[in-house]
Amino acid sequence: MCGIVGYVGKDNAKNIIIDGLKRLEYRGYDSAGIALIVNGGIRTFKKEGKIRNLECELNKLHLFSNIGIGHTRWATHGEPVDTNAHPHSDCSGKISIVHNGIIENYSELRKELISKGHRFESDTDTEVIAHLIEEELKNSPSFFPAFIKAVRKLKGSYAIAAITVYEADKIFVARKDSPLIIGIGNGENFVASDIPAFLSYTNRALPLDDLEVAIIGKDSFQVFDIKGNEKEKEPFTIPWSLAQAEKAGYKHFMLKEIYEQPRAIADTISGNLPWLKGSVPLEGINPKTFNRVQIVACGTSYHAGLIGKFYIENFSHLPVEVDLASEYRYRSPVVDEKTLVIAITQSGETADTLAAVKFAKKKGAKTLAVCNVIGSSVTRESDQVLYTYAGPEISVASTKAFTTQVVTLFMFSLWLGKMRNVLKDEKVEELLHELMELPSKVEDFLNGEKERGTVKEIAESFYKAKNALYIGRHVNYPIALEGALKLKEISYIHAEGYPAGEMKHGPIALIDETMPVVVVATKGSVYEKILSNIEEVKARKGKVIAVTNPECREVKEKVEAFIEVPEVNEFLSPIINIVPLQILAYHIADFLGYDVDQPRNLAKSVTVK
Ligand code: M6R
Repeated sequence: MCGIVGYVGKDNAKNIIIDGLKRLEYRGYDSAGIALIVNGGIRTFKKEGKIRNLECELNKLHLFSNIGIGHTRWATHGEPVDTNAHPHSDCSGKISIVHNGIIENYSELRKELISKGHRFESDTDTEVIAHLIEEELKNSPSFFPAFIKAVRKLKGSYAIAAITVYEADKIFVARKDSPLIIGIGNGENFVASDIPAFLSYTNRALPLDDLEVAIIGKDSFQVFDIKGNEKEKEPFTIPWSLAQAEKAGYKHFMLKEIYEQPRAIADTISGNLPWLKGSVPLEGINPKTFNRVQIVACGTSYHAGLIGKFYIENFSHLPVEVDLASEYRYRSPVVDEKTLVIAITQSGETADTLAAVKFAKKKGAKTLAVCNVIGSSVTRESDQVLYTYAGPEISVASTKAFTTQVVTLFMFSLWLGKMRNVLKDEKVEELLHELMELPSKVEDFLNGEKERGTVKEIAESFYKAKNALYIGRHVNYPIALEGALKLKEISYIHAEGYPAGEMKHGPIALIDETMPVVVVATKGSVYEKILSNIEEVKARKGKVIAVTNPECREVKEKVEAFIEVPEVNEFLSPIINIVPLQILAYHIADFLGYDVDQPRNLAKSVTVK
């Protein structure tokens, strides 16, 4: 959950690395550091807190270097203090390392290195890497063989970038279970944990695979396997523009990303139509060969998976289980070659989701990734990938990734239904037609909110609440879960999502006049039932905020506050119903004065298990 940036080229590495780190701050933001080769020696600067602290420090100095590495940290081993911030160095100060991941055997390695005379300055697992290379260098002809030997001794997960005075024009990198991408420029090259770090300089990228190492110079890059055999790899062109990764006048990335949803949904529909229409085959998946589906994901992506279950079971009649990826491999799931495992992940780097995919593959299952990031680890591990075309999602709170995941699952379930002869072509066309109308309906809602600020007003009345309950039913039960997650992760208000019919079995005891209850009450097969649930809340003096449709007079008459969204097909309603709940959470967090895009204790990409 840290961010790495490296640069070697013709320009001032310091500025390029700081710029890149700022774009990766979403990956971790408790301390940051940079190491540069200046006049044949390594200069290292580290600062607790956000990157701007480090930047202020560096701005006081006149430094020029055209090679360096930088890091933004999310602490796993050792407190977030200056000494534990990366880069870390060996005893001689001639090797400098940044690392993302966890070295599981660091304590044995550390003991062994200490017994050989190495002195440690931090509490981190990372520092062992620098000392290990120093140790290996004693018996190696040059730096690279020592680097590779040291990497081979590491257990756990890592993305590593190293610089050294012994070869002062190169960056040495290695990867296992943590993302690392080389950016290929003109007379300059980059390495980073994520593409936005170098996208303003180049759109050519080469992601490293697990157990690959590379040497990066200003005009060259060489990739090797862990044994040191050189490999041929082709870079690809990144389809995102930098503007897509910037705030575009919005106060926060989260708000910008919420407002991008009509475009993101439309792009996801058109990007996925070719395989649904049959013009491009889904080669990795043969629907005749499996008899069950398992969905694995974390957080918001898990909530998308819960909706996907409704779609697949309804439209293709296949049984579906949905698992939190962090639980899946520990519960002895029945998974074999007749199982299709769908991994849903925005980043494609979530360690638990990746581990679930690897587990399923070992058992013989076919794996399908629903992912937003091209070339990410989960996409490379899976038999087939369906991309969501959300564009880069920077805010830690996931919004457009969620709605595009649900759209992709909807489309996949139509394809499955068609291939398994459950859905007739006309039915697929009818549902597709309704899906295609969705972007403009979401846009209508967002434009109305911009004009009237209804959700913002509701947020203003409720932002001092200490707790909140979110309820929904059927396909909108996961929306209650997702609405509650959005609120708690950015506003730190305790919120729970519940299936409305389950309230009477416990949570109803929480309701009194201080409890805001957000009810998803749009038209559909359970509309009458949800009306009764609203009555139950009212009878206990709870304050109801309803997400409803303009025609739902019965709801509007009963509740304290309501938000109207256009009516759509019940199966598609989660995609529009979540939008006001995202905005509600956003404004509440903003009224409370919190850092909306980078909430405490969280990181955008969770690469620890
Ligand atoms: O990148 P992923 O979709 O695999 O990430 C999964 C979760 O970490 C993520 O959805 C998280 O719950 C978000 N903070 C939710 O807004």
